[in-house]
Amino acid sequence: MDKDATWFEGLGDLGFGFVEVGTITARPQQGNPRPRVWRLSEDQALLNSMGFPNPGADATAARLRDRRGRTIIGANLGKSMTVSIDDAGRDYAESVGKVAPLSDYVVLNVSSPNTPGLRTMQGVERLGGLIANVRQELARIGCQVPLLIKIAPDLSDEELDAIADLALALELDGIVAVNTTVERTGLASGDAAILARAGGISGPPLRARAIYVLERLRARVGDALVLVSVGGITTPDDAWQRVLAGATLVQAYTGLVYGGPSWPRHINRGLSKRVREAGFKSLHDAIGAGVKCASIPQAPSAPTRSGEESSARPRHGRLPVGRASAAR
Ligand SMILES: Cc1cc2nc3c(=O)[nH]c(=O)nc-3n(C[C@H](O)[C@H](O)[C@H](O)COP(=O)(O)O)c2cc1C
Repeated sequence: MDKDATWFEGLGDLGFGFVEVGTITARPQQGNPRPRVWRLSEDQALLNSMGFPNPGADATAARLRDRRGRTIIGANLGKSMTVSIDDAGRDYAESVGKVAPLSDYVVLNVSSPNTPGLRTMQGVERLGGLIANVRQELARIGCQVPLLIKIAPDLSDEELDAIADLALALELDGIVAVNTTVERTGLASGDAAILARAGGISGPPLRARAIYVLERLRARVGDALVLVSVGGITTPDDAWQRVLAGATLVQAYTGLVYGGPSWPRHINRGLSKRVREAGFKSLHDAIGAGVKCASIPQAPSAPTRSGEESSARPRHGRLPVGRASAAR
């Protein structure tokens, strides 16, 4: 996780196969007042209400222009707080124009709970409009870069299916699932004053829901899209489970916060071991190997602590498919 594009090379050195910078907005912004991140230690979780503090697209572009290492970078882009939802398309497009040519892939983040109204952009009409705006800008500047969207865990089945269908129809490259949840159920941490705060919860309480969303997307799109699974990955087995369930890539944030700097290598080593033990030649070969059929999974009633096939070919572009893990 590199919110202001200042330590992506360091994160790559820690063992992450790719790093997403952001969320970046067209204008620099401070984010919400502090405090805005709380540890829910009993759950190994976090609650955050950051609100996209970032240096803006121009400063981010300057930092990416200076990049020397080989870390694969995704630009995660969002709406500036002061811009209305109706003008969001132009706002995202402005960031895209500045940052996309310097990035290996672009994620349109329409799922943070900390920017008022942002998640309404997950409705197919608004989402279609946003993607059209962004594609227009990419065509104008002659930039071809894989384009993904990042979605919330709190969508209904119908909304999830509609987004999956739209992503296929518009030939998006992939979906990043999921962002933090606004749910407050299934938590051991009992500090009512903290839990009453606005914001999103990440870490193990999100695990079951993240798996459900991944399985539902996979059942709907097969291997036609890159599916980046994120939410509650804290152990090598968590990451392995996602790969078997069809995750092309996995990401984490809270796992790194609690696990510390050796955490990415621990996950990578564990994944390599599981690939060998299961008899696969590479991690890539294991993607989706646990998917038994294309049936739609049953929804868990709420996040807990416990942790139609498409014939289209995957279009992975410059995404690091088959690499182990990423920081978000
Ligand atoms: C402190 C904090 C800040 C975050 N900021 C962003 C952000 O700017 N953009 C974004 O798309 N997701 C953001 N996220 C969400 C994570 O990228 C991830 O989707 C979510 O935390 C679930 O993964 P995890 O359980 O591994 O943390 C943030 C999460 C945390 C904890």
